[in-house]
Amino acid sequence: MSASPFPDRPTGPGRTVPTTVTVTGAAGQIGYATVFRAAAGDLLGPDTPIRLHLLELPAARRAAEGTALELQDGAFPLLHGVEVFEDADAAFDGASVGLLIGARPRAQGMERADLLEANAGIFSVQGRAVNRGAAEDFRAVVVGNPANTNAYLAASHAPDVPRERFTALTRLDHHRAVAQLAAAADALVGEVDGVAVWGNHSASQYPDLTHATVGGRPALEVLAERDLGLEWVDSTFIPRVARRGAEIIDVRGGSSVASAAHAALCHVRDWVLGTPGAAWTSMGVPSDGSYGVPEGLVSSFPVTCRDGRARIVPGLELDRFSGSRIEASVRELEEERAAVQQLGLLGPRR
Ligand code: NAD
Ligand code: LMR
Repeated sequence: MSASPFPDRPTGPGRTVPTTVTVTGAAGQIGYATVFRAAAGDLLGPDTPIRLHLLELPAARRAAEGTALELQDGAFPLLHGVEVFEDADAAFDGASVGLLIGARPRAQGMERADLLEANAGIFSVQGRAVNRGAAEDFRAVVVGNPANTNAYLAASHAPDVPRERFTALTRLDHHRAVAQLAAAADALVGEVDGVAVWGNHSASQYPDLTHATVGGRPALEVLAERDLGLEWVDSTFIPRVARRGAEIIDVRGGSSVASAAHAALCHVRDWVLGTPGAAWTSMGVPSDGSYGVPEGLVSSFPVTCRDGRARIVPGLELDRFSGSRIEASVRELEEERAAVQQLGLLGPRR
């Protein structure tokens, strides 16, 4: 642990105990793009002071320390402290929020599944650290890929923490789907509602427009008027969204960063503060068995959030096409789970 650039402040009249937020891979690209906005209130809202625990590998420790200095220079009123750690137990001690970002990103030509073995070890260690010392109200979003299976893995090593506190980031896919639909319908993003992303954060995911609306009208109807029928949805929209990560890697020369950071902030903020009105979003959450997804598997679903809980939207009708797309993505999740099991990486909770 390094000395915090912030002096210790006692709590007392007029002071609120800050919420501890642990960010892994804090000196990496997404970590760096996330922590300043978290300090500015974009993670837990404008009324919640935070204390940041930055977890990094020894090789990136100096960079994380530099980030801590810059955070100090931001003079963020909500930021009550920053500490840098190399030890997961110390970093998660007392944490209420975990942004589990640290992992190797994929490079050109790799699928996210190629990262399974490389990154899986990280999440077992961190799951155990959470189990040992995180706060009662701990919740985490896993960003590091393959995000769904890493969340499952971390939860398997934290049997004393409710399973639903380990979620995976599919909000970026949700945003991508909303933005692509808005562009195709020549509408504003704010006019789009009811998009859902199902399954794995991978090319097998199913971005679903069947319940979506644009300006209050069924999206499929609006698209059909623009000569964009189901064939366009299947052959252009779905692959565009599902393969957007690879497109970014190809065009940008590296995997998505600021859009991923933005999505992670939105994921946690909505989870903690609630989704607005009747609107839903998409999150990778442990299945409760809904829609034929085996219980426990961390799959993306449409969810609403209230009182700090994410609930899978119940009772949506799925046509045969949707059902088979979800099934295919869930099959991939089951294969990933079997692979980490074979590698002997799963913890005591299955
Ligand atoms: P990066 O290489 O820039 O940063 C990763 C950081 O993690 C590095 O600083 C590294 O030192 C650190 N790290 C590695 N192992 C660690 C450990 N055990 N403990 C603490 N820190 C550790 O990568 P990035 O661009 O920030 O991407 C991070 C991850 O996010 C990748 O796995 C990437 O594929 C994934 N990602 C997910 C989504 C999503 O939507 N779910 C989107 C974009 C990227
Ligand atoms: C993304 O969706 O942009 C990330 O998961 C990075 C990747 O490997 O695709």
